[in-house]
Amino acid sequence: MTAIALSGTGLFTPQQAISNAELVEAFNEYVRRANAAGHEPALQPSSVEFIEKASGIKSRYVMDKAGILDPDVMCPRIPERPDSQISILAEMAVAAARDAMKAADRKPEDIDGVIVACSNLQRAYPAIAIEVQDGLGIEGFAFDMNVACSSATFGLQAAADMVARGNARAILVCNPEICSGHLNFRDRDSHFIFGDVATAFIVERAEESDGTNSWEVLGTKLRTMFSNNIRNNFGFLNRAAPESRDTKDKLFVQEGRKVFKDVVPWVSELILGHLAEAGLQASALKRIWLHQANVNMNDFIARKVLGRDPLPGEAPNILDEYANTSSAGSVIAFHKHSSDLAPGDLGLLCSFGAGYSAGSVILRKRH
Ligand code: COA
Repeated sequence: MTAIALSGTGLFTPQQAISNAELVEAFNEYVRRANAAGHEPALQPSSVEFIEKASGIKSRYVMDKAGILDPDVMCPRIPERPDSQISILAEMAVAAARDAMKAADRKPEDIDGVIVACSNLQRAYPAIAIEVQDGLGIEGFAFDMNVACSSATFGLQAAADMVARGNARAILVCNPEICSGHLNFRDRDSHFIFGDVATAFIVERAEESDGTNSWEVLGTKLRTMFSNNIRNNFGFLNRAAPESRDTKDKLFVQEGRKVFKDVVPWVSELILGHLAEAGLQASALKRIWLHQANVNMNDFIARKVLGRDPLPGEAPNILDEYANTSSAGSVIAFHKHSSDLAPGDLGLLCSFGAGYSAGSVILRKRH
């Protein structure tokens, strides 16, 4: 088997951020106006205390703050661009990709494929990945894939398999997410959940990997199980049913508590089973980079996997600053909290989300 490396990561962070206090103020003003206009049943206000306690989120980066915080709009305002201009999602991916290529010491001519793996693709076609490929001057092939919050780990396995088979020397995987575009900012249960960001990473043959933070992919394990508890019914058939085209289910909807209960044991078992198959004990892991949806959920999973409370920094959370960034979350945690580890150290990256879908990746630091 050809040894495969995750050899460089990149991050694009939007310039604008919204604190919980700002978000709640806008939401509560919307509630006040709706109730004054006689909304039935009366809407309930949101609270900063609830958001921080229930999720661990304190802030989020967004592509357009003004639209989200305007009680008359409550949605980002992102003008359409002419087809002659790079689309905003591809632009974010290119920025993260340049960072990843620099970290991996790779030039466009070293890369044979691009995968854009994310939850929120802004159009049907041409693939965003082909636009990213064009923007970076990469030859070869490119395609989009969507496995919701697990897109990055599924993309990583797809890339690793293609490199191992000799179908590409190196593949660039990008996870651009404008989650604010599919979030219902008028929904009290979920208006605080998501943020915008883009991550990217390079997958290549380990023996050719020169990056300063290069990790061998010891194994990947993917799982899916159908559930309606996280769902978004937006799609091209919406126009064929105009009577329900703008209903709430055309944005992100979830049964948060049910998701919590289903996913914590499911993902913990996936990780423990994956480690057992690899002949490893959880105690061998120096770090766990989990999907970033909820701090309490991550604490539960880390506790189940390690059999004890995680030490500070052992299962890093970036949720407080970034909120849930869908496919990019675990990659941000890895990007920000992996370079301090030593050659030979083991870590585990794990995504989970809608589908349900989950992916576990065991990594060993090379150099
Ligand atoms: N402000 C104040 N109170 C709120 C509120 C808000 N914004 N939203 C809900 N509440 C209230 C509810 O009305 C409820 O009140 P009640 O007890 O009087 O009925 C109470 O807070 C608890 O609501 P609940 O929805 O059960 O909260 P929770 O503790 O389950 O937390 C989530 C909600 C979404 C943070 C949490 O369930 C979660 O993160 N789940 C996992 C989701 C996930 O991983 N999704 C993957 C997406 S990719």
